[in-house]
Amino acid sequence: MLVLGVETSCDETAASVVEDGRIVRANVVSSQIATHAQYGGVVPEVASRQHVATIIPVLERAIADAGIRFADLDAIAVTAGPGLVGALLVGVETAKALAFAVGKPLVAVNHLAGHLAAAFLDNPPAPHTPPSYPHLALLVSGGHTALIRIDAPGQTRLLGSTRDDASGEAFDKVGKMLGLGYPGGVAIDKRAATGNPQAVTLPRALPGRDDLDFSFSGLKTAVASLLARRALPQDQEMNDFCASFQAAVVDVLVRKSRRALALQGLSALVVCGGVAANRGLRAALAVAAAEDGFALHIPPPKYCTDNAAMIAAAGTQLFQRGARAGLDLSVDPGLPL
Ligand code: KG4
Ligand code: ZN
Repeated sequence: MLVLGVETSCDETAASVVEDGRIVRANVVSSQIATHAQYGGVVPEVASRQHVATIIPVLERAIADAGIRFADLDAIAVTAGPGLVGALLVGVETAKALAFAVGKPLVAVNHLAGHLAAAFLDNPPAPHTPPSYPHLALLVSGGHTALIRIDAPGQTRLLGSTRDDASGEAFDKVGKMLGLGYPGGVAIDKRAATGNPQAVTLPRALPGRDDLDFSFSGLKTAVASLLARRALPQDQEMNDFCASFQAAVVDVLVRKSRRALALQGLSALVVCGGVAANRGLRAALAVAAAEDGFALHIPPPKYCTDNAAMIAAAGTQLFQRGARAGLDLSVDPGLPL
C-alpha cells in the first residue's frame, strides 16, 4: 500500500511516500528556517506564502524520488491540525485538489498523531522493531509536551502535559535570550555537547510527586534573571550555560517519563517531536532504559522534527481502519489529539 503524506502545519513544506505504513520510499522536506531566522521566529503569513511557492515542486519531487506516478497511490494523507491556520490550509487545499484530480481517497491526519507514528517507520540499514502496545509516548515538540498512554492505534489517553511552555518553546526562548538565533533547540544541543551540565545551578520544576504534568516557565524565568545580572556568556562559558540548561529540561523529561512508566505499569517508551532529536535527551533516556529495563523507541532525528513520512505512516493506520475525509475537509489550528 502506497500513501502520500503532506505536511505544512508550521515552517516545513514536506511530502513523503510510505509503503505499508513503515517503508519510506521518498521523504522530501523543504525547511523555511533560514527565512524565519531573520525574524527570530516563525512569521505565519510568511510561512503560508512560502508553502504556496514550494508545495507543488515538493510533491513532484517526492513522487519522482519514490519512482512512482500519482496514479500508483492508494491514498493521500494530509495534516489538518494543529498548527498555523494559513500554513495548514495550503497543505489541505492542495491535497484535496490532488485527491480530486487523481481520484484517490483522502485521509485527514492530526499532526500529533503523526509524531506518535514516527516510531513505526523503518530506518535502514539500522535494525528496527516497531513499538508494541500498550506503550507510553513522550511527545516533545515546539508546541507540545505531553505524556500519552497508547493502548492501540488511535486509542490514546493523555496522562500529563505542560502547564505553561512546551519544552521546545523553552529551548527556543532561552536560545533567543542567549543570542543563539532561531531555532534555539538545535544551537543549544550543539553547544551543550562540549559544556559542563553542572556549571550553572538551575531549577527543576516537578509539580507533585505522582503528577505527570510539566512546567518550564520557572526555568525560563530563572535563566532570564541570571542573564539580567551578568554579561552574555562567551565561548566555553556559553557551552557550559547551554549544557546546564539542557540538563535541567532533560532531567525533568526523564524523571516524569520514568514515573509515568512505573505508575502505568508500562515497559515501552516512544519519544517523538522535535526535541526528541536532542542528543542529551536521547543519551539520558538510553541510560534510564538500561537501568529500568524498558524498551526505548526514538526515531532518527529526521523523523523527530516535522516531516511528512510520519503523516503518511499515521495516515496509513487511519486508512486501514476505514478513515476517509471528504472534499469539504477543513483545518483546525487547535485540533486536540
Ligand atoms: O516537532 P517539531 O519539528 O515542530 C513542532 O511540531 O513544533 O519541533 C520543533 C521544536 C523546536 O522548538 C526546536 O527548537 C526543537 O523542536 N528542536 C530541538 C532539537 N531539534 C529541534 N530541541 C532540542 N534539541 C534539538 N536537537
Ligand atoms: Zn511537529
